[in-house]
Amino acid sequence: MVPSDFVVMKALPLSPTGKVDRSALPAPGARRPDEQLGFVAPRDELEEKVAAVWSELLGIARVGVHDDFFALGGHSLMVSRVVFRIHDLVGIELPMRALYEAPTIAGIAGLIRRTGDSPGAGGLCFTPSLRLEDECRLDDDITAGAPPVDSTRPPEHVLLTGASGYVGAHLLAELLATTTAHVHCLVRAQDLAEARARLRKTASMYCLRSDVLGARVHPVVGDLAAERLGLSPAAFDRLASQIHVIYHNGARVDHVRGYSEMKAANVLGTHEVLRLACRARLKPVHFVSTLGVVYPPDYAAAGRVPEDAPAGPLGKLPNGYMQSKCVAEHLVSTAMARGVPASIYRLGAITGHSVTGACNPDDYTYSALRSTVQLGFADDLDTDLTITPVDFAARAIVALSGRPQSAGKVFHVVNPRPLFWLDLVRALRERGYGIRVVSYAECMAGLLDAARRGVATPMLAFLPFITQKEPGNARYVAEDYHSPVRWSCENTIEGLAALGVQSPPPPERLLDIYLEHLTRNDLSHPPVRT
Ligand SMILES: NC(=O)c1ccc[n+]([C@@H]2O[C@H](COP(=O)([O-])OP(=O)(O)OC[C@H]3O[C@@H](n4cnc5c(N)ncnc54)[C@H](OP(=O)(O)O)[C@@H]3O)[C@@H](O)[C@H]2O)c1
Repeated sequence: MVPSDFVVMKALPLSPTGKVDRSALPAPGARRPDEQLGFVAPRDELEEKVAAVWSELLGIARVGVHDDFFALGGHSLMVSRVVFRIHDLVGIELPMRALYEAPTIAGIAGLIRRTGDSPGAGGLCFTPSLRLEDECRLDDDITAGAPPVDSTRPPEHVLLTGASGYVGAHLLAELLATTTAHVHCLVRAQDLAEARARLRKTASMYCLRSDVLGARVHPVVGDLAAERLGLSPAAFDRLASQIHVIYHNGARVDHVRGYSEMKAANVLGTHEVLRLACRARLKPVHFVSTLGVVYPPDYAAAGRVPEDAPAGPLGKLPNGYMQSKCVAEHLVSTAMARGVPASIYRLGAITGHSVTGACNPDDYTYSALRSTVQLGFADDLDTDLTITPVDFAARAIVALSGRPQSAGKVFHVVNPRPLFWLDLVRALRERGYGIRVVSYAECMAGLLDAARRGVATPMLAFLPFITQKEPGNARYVAEDYHSPVRWSCENTIEGLAALGVQSPPPPERLLDIYLEHLTRNDLSHPPVRT
């Protein structure tokens, strides 16, 4: 295979152990995609300064004022460096989210002019003013009027969304392994061949058996963010008549972008899935949600969050992803109240496979773990990490979904044995990692300092989320959000016990499997023993 891009460097960046530091490598393709197309040169001194920062960090000589930073190869780890360099050159401290809100030079220059008087304004990843009554609107025709599918027979045709993603790939493998159903997978792609290739690529990325994509897997080219899931009216009706059950797992998962960007895929997508469930024949919906839809401080006094805790309050959830999943859950609950058979599975932090350790190394939990190990300090906000191996989560959802008693219930799909953050730090120290525990503010200062020094560490991708502060509040949003509650999971435990599904290995054992996988794949450093 001949690579399509080459980046010439004087030397490869090395990690402290002398291996190639892949996270510090520049993005390939660092040139303007089409030198001629739509190029508008900087029009004043401010745009020239911003363009100079982009050129320097992206390694591109000429950038136009309407070029998109991310389309030019910019990535989340670079975002904080852009903010710092602009501060150095212009003297204005932009919010960390600036590039997500305005990813062009013209946009950033406009933000600088507007925020000149109130630096740091507009930096929130969530919308405090969001109101559930405005956002949660389910069309009147989405109701349990159609004849229900025959629930006495195992479903022959299943619709699964999000199978090209981490959890979805494992749900697909589990559905194929434990049922005889044909699985129709809604995938974003140009055509069926690309959709199938995307499913195959994800399966192999997570070390799933390569033969999982046999004759029982049927890609459906579609888009959650579009009306009727991106299908023609005829194709939507055909699918509605063919399938017997829906696993709605697909979602845009991004902790930095705001609600307005998440809404189409996560809220409208769920709306259209519910429409499909009610069309032709009434079919059950299994909705994959997140513990992030509940606001933990509201349960601090009780110490536990029950499974029937309502999602919300919407305006307090600290990012647009959580807010969009909260609204989506309320849509599902509204449909349930209208008689649609549905179950909600709120997942904890999904971690690597409990046997292979194969994981999504750039997600929030893994980024926190990897940066802590790399930088040698950790904050002192002691929360339950809710680490839940991906294979256990997939097994639990598929098993519980086959039980008639599950209809109408909410399940907290978490490891019944908790692992708190400071227990993790202690366990890392016992394994030889030198880690200092510092206050949250000191930890953020340390991360910002690392970003300023150009140290590439995965947690930088989450800086706009973890460093956000509400105007007039000196504390970080995360400090107020923090709450050392436990997550009740009686519905899950009772259901899985009745089905004979085993709990995942204890967290300490999982930690060893995960660290071994990370170091073997050069994704984290082994402890430096002195
Ligand atoms: N991972 C966790 O720790 C965690 C924790 C709690 C809850 N969850 C929930 O688990 C579910 C899966 O998350 P994940 O971690 O597996 O995320 P992921 O790896 O990012 O997968 C998301 C999936 O959704 C699909 N998707 C996104 N936007 C779409 C659109 N407009 N049209 C069609 N498909 C779209 C993605 O397709 P593309 O490949 O085309 O982008 C991908 O297949 C989500 O509902 C999430 O809320 C995850």
